[in-house]
Amino acid sequence: MSEQVPVQGAEGHRVDIFDTTLRDGEQSPGISLNTREKVEIAQQLGRLGVDVIEAGFPITSPGDFEAVEAIARSAEGPVICGLARTHKADIDAAWNAIKDAHRPRIHTFISTSDIHITHQLQTTRDDVKGQARAAVALARSYCDDVEFSPMDATRADVEFTAEVCAIAVAEGATVVNIPDTVGYTTPDEYARYLARLYELAPGLAGIRLSVHCHDDLGLAVANSYAGVLAGARQVECAVNGIGERAGNCSLEEIVMLLRTRSDAHGFDTGCETREIARTSRMVSRFTGYHVQPNKAIVGRNAFAHESGIHQDGVLKERTTYEIMDARDVGLDSNSIVLGKHSGRHALRDALEQLGFKVSGDALNEAFKRFKEIADRKKQVTALDLEAIVSDRLREGAQRYELGWFDVEASTRRAPKAHVAVTMPDGSTAEGESGGDGPVDAIFGAIRVATGVESDLRQYTVSAVTEGEDALGEVTVVLRAHERLASGQGVATDILEASARAYLRALSNALEGAAIREAEELTAEAATERATPGP
Ligand code: KIV
Ligand code: ZN
Repeated sequence: MSEQVPVQGAEGHRVDIFDTTLRDGEQSPGISLNTREKVEIAQQLGRLGVDVIEAGFPITSPGDFEAVEAIARSAEGPVICGLARTHKADIDAAWNAIKDAHRPRIHTFISTSDIHITHQLQTTRDDVKGQARAAVALARSYCDDVEFSPMDATRADVEFTAEVCAIAVAEGATVVNIPDTVGYTTPDEYARYLARLYELAPGLAGIRLSVHCHDDLGLAVANSYAGVLAGARQVECAVNGIGERAGNCSLEEIVMLLRTRSDAHGFDTGCETREIARTSRMVSRFTGYHVQPNKAIVGRNAFAHESGIHQDGVLKERTTYEIMDARDVGLDSNSIVLGKHSGRHALRDALEQLGFKVSGDALNEAFKRFKEIADRKKQVTALDLEAIVSDRLREGAQRYELGWFDVEASTRRAPKAHVAVTMPDGSTAEGESGGDGPVDAIFGAIRVATGVESDLRQYTVSAVTEGEDALGEVTVVLRAHERLASGQGVATDILEASARAYLRALSNALEGAAIREAEELTAEAATERATPGP
């Protein structure tokens, strides 16, 4: 491919990693992260060493605005980017959310494909040019770093897209991103498209070209790689490949492709790849999106060898069947081990080594939970600690908590569960229920105790580590309080983990509903202020 398309873009062999887990990734169906979770993920992305974090789309809701603002105020290393359509209100909101960042960027976009211009925007090509010009100019009046994207570019007329990109460059865009919005292009076609853009809009050679590929045909990483070979020096991607529909280019795959095959292409990123596994686990936990076992780089089996011949080879010499070292993606980080006699200091030190800064009440809470688990499990490993702390990090102020539960399970009688729940106002409520099985009975009893109707959408159990005394980790996705929310619970007993996960999901739904109510009240108040009195 590098022979077909000469590299024409920016100088240098460093490819910037633009992470859009918190924006495009969060647009995946069923994902709804709260501000605390987003800030936590952004901090981990900082440790991973990404260059840009697209923290959200601030105009879409006050909740999104608040999260982008919180990330902008807390993140130190990466550029913090806010997304905006070409509307003035969007750009104003994006700027207001990111303006406190050390390195802010506004990312504005408008479609250049006729399909979008005719059917979605219902406007004309001339209007698109005008909107792109005004948007980039306005964004540049606020911020020195402005990215422009011609959305659905790969299905658009290349001549028209080049005209719009040239306008963006003339107005001062510092990055131009060419999205394959619907995951339609192929590596060779994309490379030719970018080469043609460079010819038609020579100004692109003076700025950073970026690629943003969706995975509808499973080509997001291949297309992004083709884009790099064609001159792009920024790849937009998401952890675990999450994103709209089939998702985005997977961050871990493109980063390891650039690192592992640097011999073939000469490119690399600034990522600390040993943080990849932890980042993947965190995103998976917080989003409730599990990683398939055979997923490249971060799947459970990505470094597992099943066949005797392979095992034999790897035992003799790792490189016989491994092109990467699991340690380079952070899959060896299970060396920290605590036991039931470990104290608060040891826990805090271990958590710090894992990248969690916990003190005060949060440390007390984590310690309490650690003790409960250490009493039942001989050794608490780094992976266990990470699961316990992530579980705690998800908690908001408004929450339902598990008091206790009794469950009767037998193959001869229908199961019965009795639970006690601490309600958000601090009172205790009890409920009893039968069910199809013990988990179903517990969930039914929680519904009776809380009085909240909820609809279970997803239930998954996995083990945090290997071995017989592994902690069970349960993820629940449910719909309650008119919100889709996920929750996670960790315990040595999967029934307990299930009850905790269910209550955590209910708490997240409650918190989401409270935020929405506050947003509606603010919107109503704004409308009243704007409506002239009688
Ligand atoms: O897929 C897409 O086109 C996008 C743009 C907003 C860059 O996500
Ligand atoms: Zn996208």
